[in-house]
Amino acid sequence: MPRVTRHPSRNDERCRLALRWPAPRTRLSASKHRKRAHAMSLIQDAARVRENAHAPYSGFKVGAAIRTVEGHVHLGCNVENVAYPEGTCAEAGAIAAMIAAGDKRIAEVAVIADCPAPVPPCGGCRQKLAEFASGDVVVTMATTAGARLQMTVAELLPGAFDAGYMVNADKDAP
Ligand code: THU
Repeated sequence: MPRVTRHPSRNDERCRLALRWPAPRTRLSASKHRKRAHAMSLIQDAARVRENAHAPYSGFKVGAAIRTVEGHVHLGCNVENVAYPEGTCAEAGAIAAMIAAGDKRIAEVAVIADCPAPVPPCGGCRQKLAEFASGDVVVTMATTAGARLQMTVAELLPGAFDAGYMVNADKDAP
């Protein structure tokens, strides 16, 4: 006997579920909520300090904010120079501020610029961040238009050079 199908009425369970599509967003756990709020406020800090960037040569302003394990936020922006190679990146500025303030370890990073996709730290800055951050530290990359991308330090710098490669170094070498 052919199976008779009928259009589900509004009271049907199937229909009730379909009406709720897309599924209601599940609540964030308290710790995920806290992490998201932290990342958002760090982006706002980075966006604020970006306004102070000195970038008359590239015209490309970058802001960076670092939250430390010690619980403070340190800021940096790019500072260019007429002798172009002397310019410094936003991340380098934030790291310098962190060390000058006496903090030692990075817990979270945010970087922001006005570009088509979330701004990635340059190669040198990835190595600089890795000096003070463990591989699982999250870097939030952002655009001023609101795009976001999160990657860990290990994802940004696979195969990183670290002190472990120097165990055979000759400390007495001239
Ligand atoms: N810049 C940063 O500040 N951070 C990066 O990770 C990428 C590049 C700056 C350096 C220079 O002042 C401008 O952006 C253009 O390269």
